[in-house]
Amino acid sequence: MLGGADGPAVQKAMDLLVRYGEALGAERLVDTNNVCATVGATTPFIRDYAAQHPEGLDAVFSEFSLDSAEVVKIPKVKAYSSHLQQGIDPVHAAEQGVSAELVQIYRRGEAFVGRMGVQLLNTCTPYQVGNVPVKGEHCAWMESSAVIYCNSVLGGRTNAEGRESAGAAMLTGKTPYWGYHLDENRLGTHLVELEVEVKTTADWGLLGYYVGEIVQERVPVIAGLKQVPNLARLKHFGAAASSSGGVEMYHIVGVTPEAASLEQAFGRNKPVETLKYGARERQIAYERVNSTGRDTQVDFVMLGCPHYSIEQIWEACQLLEGQRVHANTSLWIFTPSAIKQVADRNGYTKIITDAGGHLMTDTCSSFGRVMPKGTKVAAVDSAKQAHYLPAIMGVQAWFGTTADCIQAAVSGRWSGRLL
Ligand code: F3S
Repeated sequence: MLGGADGPAVQKAMDLLVRYGEALGAERLVDTNNVCATVGATTPFIRDYAAQHPEGLDAVFSEFSLDSAEVVKIPKVKAYSSHLQQGIDPVHAAEQGVSAELVQIYRRGEAFVGRMGVQLLNTCTPYQVGNVPVKGEHCAWMESSAVIYCNSVLGGRTNAEGRESAGAAMLTGKTPYWGYHLDENRLGTHLVELEVEVKTTADWGLLGYYVGEIVQERVPVIAGLKQVPNLARLKHFGAAASSSGGVEMYHIVGVTPEAASLEQAFGRNKPVETLKYGARERQIAYERVNSTGRDTQVDFVMLGCPHYSIEQIWEACQLLEGQRVHANTSLWIFTPSAIKQVADRNGYTKIITDAGGHLMTDTCSSFGRVMPKGTKVAAVDSAKQAHYLPAIMGVQAWFGTTADCIQAAVSGRWSGRLL
């Protein structure tokens, strides 16, 4: 491939991977047949670039995924590949303040990516809609919340790839063999002993936020669990830990696949530190996540970071059914488009729209920079979104349970507190 036998795009992809692997000190490449990446015209900058180049998405892929100023024709992918979240929801362009022209660029990008053979899952949670790596499977995934879920909950093996290395992996079916592909880097480094029960999804977000801030990029091992968490709780835990720190792998003793016991989770490592997580630490995490919240009038309630599962939509609908979203507040819930199909059939989309809210797909407020016009104060049930929304969009953010958020959507005011 490096010699050009498979054409210029594959040659550039392999050249990029070889340079990247050498910079990382990887001893070799490893085969991958599971790549999750963003390669479309997802940001305003890339959309402008696409609009200005007659070669369109070939130019975008060459420049932004292959690090090549020379435009090469992009062939079909070699590896099974899924597209992550995009920049807009084309069906809710009006609500998101997106022009018709932009929707056209988006659709062209989507068609291009589809022709490459990339699955248009368009979500940060590919594992919720059919891309579920098996234990030990070598992957090349982008998106921190997906990466940590893949490594920790599924036992797949991936580093947090960039647009370039993931794009190159799609075209070659190879990725550098380093980091979390190697057994020794997957072992625990920090022990976290739970002294309080961690029950709700919000609780798991707080725990992740607290642990991530302390361990940063190392591998925490959670011990002392009383109740097995479900998919949504693990998803929120990982998303929070990868936002406050850079955690890409964790273990929960007795739950995650490489931690049947404390001994297995740590292997030959000795914990470098033992953290206690009790009522005080929980309170600290809550205050940190809520550090930007000041005004109790809420303009915007955003749910679905990471994208909601059908179970979470069902829960939100039970809280919302028969009520109206406040006249001064907007409610947007984000989910993968495949899950929205189920929500449509189940009548959940109707419950949300009857209440005055929207069930959106493909993007989210932080990634797509899409919010209702004039939003100053947002309410979220995701520690990750509470971390990023103020930084990216300059708004205040309240964090609480899904029930706190639905209450805020209906009353227009924030009244959440830590129970
Ligand atoms: Fe997904 Fe956006 Fe959150 S891409 S993880 S919903 S910040």
